[in-house]
Amino acid sequence: MSNNLDRDIKEAADMLRNSNFTTAYTGAGISVESGIPPFRGEEGLWNKYDPSYLELNFFLSQPEKSWKVIKQIFYDFFDDAKPNAAHLALAKMEKQGMLSRIITQNIDNLHQEAGSTKVYEFHGNSMKLVCLACSRVFPHGEISLDHLPPHCPDCQGLLKPDFIFFGEAIPQEPLAAAYEAASKSDVFLVIGTTGEVMPANQIPPLAKQNGAKIIEVNPEASNYTSRITDLLLKGKAGEVMTKLEKELFSAPLHDD
Ligand code: APR
Repeated sequence: MSNNLDRDIKEAADMLRNSNFTTAYTGAGISVESGIPPFRGEEGLWNKYDPSYLELNFFLSQPEKSWKVIKQIFYDFFDDAKPNAAHLALAKMEKQGMLSRIITQNIDNLHQEAGSTKVYEFHGNSMKLVCLACSRVFPHGEISLDHLPPHCPDCQGLLKPDFIFFGEAIPQEPLAAAYEAASKSDVFLVIGTTGEVMPANQIPPLAKQNGAKIIEVNPEASNYTSRITDLLLKGKAGEVMTKLEKELFSAPLHDD
C-alpha cells in the first residue's frame, strides 16, 4: 500500500473520531469483493444486460423477459454472497458508536448480514417478493424461480422483487433518512459508487453543501471525486476499510 494511502487513512480516522454524526453511503462497489458484479465499469452488468429490462413499465408489460434478467443478475449471485471486510468494518464502527447510519443503494442485504442495524435501503431489498395483486410479501427463498415469472401462491398474482426499478418512486422511509443524514452529518463516508443514478446521487452533494466532510473509498475516480470529495482513499473497499478499522480500533502500541 502506498505511503499516501497510509497517511490518508490516518487523516480519515481523525476526521471520523471528531465526527458526532457519520453516515456511510454505499454502492455496488462495496459488494464486488463479495462476488457481486457492479453495474458500471469494465466488469459492469450493464455491459452485458440491457438496463431497460429493469424499468418498471417494461417489467409490467413483459414480466417473463424482465424476470429472466433479474434472476441472472441478482438471484443467481446473491445466495452465495457473504459480507466482506468492508461490510464488517462498517458494522463494527456502528457497534463502537462511530457510525450513525448507512444509506445504501444496494439491494443485496449484505450490510444487515454483516451486523449493521441502522441501514436505509434507497433502492429497496431483493430478499422479499411482493404480489402486485394482493400485496402479500414472501421471503424470496420460499418462491421457486424455476418457472418465470413467479406467481403468488395465494392469488396467482404477479410477484415483483421488493426492490426499486428504474422509473419507480424511492420509498419514503429511506428517502427521509437520507435527506436527514445529508442535513446533519459531519462526515459522509462514500464507498463504491459512481454517483450516476438519480435521485440517489443527489445525497452526497447535499451533505457537502450542509458542511459534511466527504471521504470517498473507490479504486477509481467517480462523479464525486473532483467535485465534492475532500479525501479519496484510493483502493478496494475491503482492503481500505480493513486498514481504516485497524487505525480506528487497534490500541496504539505503548512506546515506553
Ligand atoms: N471497492 C470499492 N469500489 C469499487 C470496487 C471495490 N472493490 N470495485 C468497483 N468499485 C467502484 C467502481 O469504481 C464504481 O465507482 O464501485 C462503483 C460501482 O459503480 P456502479 O456499478 O455504478 O454502482 P452504483 O454507483 O452503486 O450504481 C447505482 O445504479 O443500476 C443502478 O440501482 C442500481 O443501485 C444501483 C445504482
